[in-house]
Amino acid sequence: MKNITVKKTKGLRGEISVPGDKSISHRALMFASIADGDTRIKGLLKGEDNMATLKAFRQMGIVIDESGDEVIVHGKGLYSLKEPDDIIDAGNSGTTIRLITGLLSGQSFFSTITGDQYLRKRPMKRVIEPLSQMGARIFGRENGNKAPLAIVGSNLKGITYNSPIASAQVKSAILLAGLYADGVTTVTEPTLSRDHTERMLAYFGAKVERKDNSVSIAGGQRLVAKDIEVPGDISSAAFFIVYALITEESDLLIKNVGINPTRSGVIDILEQMGGNLKIVNRREVCGEPVGDIRVKSSNLRGIEIKGDLIPRAIDELPVIGAAAAYAEGTTTIGDAKELRVKETDRIATLASELRAMDIAVTEREDGAVIVGGKPKGGVTLKSHGDHRIAMTMTVAASGTDGITTIEDVECIDTSFPGFEELIKKVSIQ
Ligand code: S3P
Repeated sequence: MKNITVKKTKGLRGEISVPGDKSISHRALMFASIADGDTRIKGLLKGEDNMATLKAFRQMGIVIDESGDEVIVHGKGLYSLKEPDDIIDAGNSGTTIRLITGLLSGQSFFSTITGDQYLRKRPMKRVIEPLSQMGARIFGRENGNKAPLAIVGSNLKGITYNSPIASAQVKSAILLAGLYADGVTTVTEPTLSRDHTERMLAYFGAKVERKDNSVSIAGGQRLVAKDIEVPGDISSAAFFIVYALITEESDLLIKNVGINPTRSGVIDILEQMGGNLKIVNRREVCGEPVGDIRVKSSNLRGIEIKGDLIPRAIDELPVIGAAAAYAEGTTTIGDAKELRVKETDRIATLASELRAMDIAVTEREDGAVIVGGKPKGGVTLKSHGDHRIAMTMTVAASGTDGITTIEDVECIDTSFPGFEELIKKVSIQ
């Protein structure tokens, strides 16, 4: 078991860049695999989650080469995938299993897909139900709700689906199936979830119609290969942003971060909490907004976080919880029931670890109330096998006295290889 030990640092200073965006990296591999022609991907995240996606497409006959910091996907079109001769393993990755299940539904072959002990506990009905309405035949444990899943490729038809949840994985699984369906497929969500799929489909030349929280795609459209540069992941940058805010002498520039408005809720929230943050050098790269983020030590205050902000910050809520532990006053997080079905139940895992640092946390079904104070160091904390909890607790410990241990941190490699080394590079001792 690998542990991280943390002792108080004065802050973070200097310039860094964080690894590539996980969501965009998955989509780059998937869309390039079913596009016509070669796609060179720069800045692809090589975390375990994305490597599970890469391996899945190799299993389906796609040639993917790695050359220096580039990955070259040799796409052969929409109908080129081959029946995998073994089970596809999505590992810990919800995006891999849910999006690929959508894609597999419309193929002309049989396939099976599973994941690790955490992923096999997560709900799959949310994608299987709409896909079944399109004509997909998918079988799984617990009445089709849990992996392993078996998928009998079928002829699909376009549907209009009103999703009860704002989920980019659900939306993207349906749109991927929609590419193989007869007619038009439309997905509407209660609030807009991350829109990387829509942007990348358009970037690859597909006609995607968007209006408010709805998106439509006609089946049978050809995707045309086009080189992609993946920006740094704002979800990874968030750990450094909060670290810099809560420690005393920080002045950090994080370069080349994706600041897509469907992902940048963390910036808005931390600014509302009093964080000194500036986005500079705003630009657009391959259809995605990108910028550099400058962050300085700040005194934070507690706020209420709910509503439309939640899907825009869903993966960053744990580290926002760490910021709340240092803020003056109370922070309330609501409308965030989805946190309960992430890699772990992140309301429960965050609450239990913040309490181990003597921070008062009240759990609610859809969130938590966190009373800011002086988190206690010199304790031992658990990752619960969840990469974002492991990194959140590393950040939370950075402003405490004593030596704190975070146990079982191998999981960090699912999204942020090199996390600990990058902190060391810019910490003021
Ligand atoms: C993701 C969507 C979100 C997010 C996950 C990545 C994606 O999940 O939490 O880390 O790449 O589409 P949901 O679709 O379940 O909200």
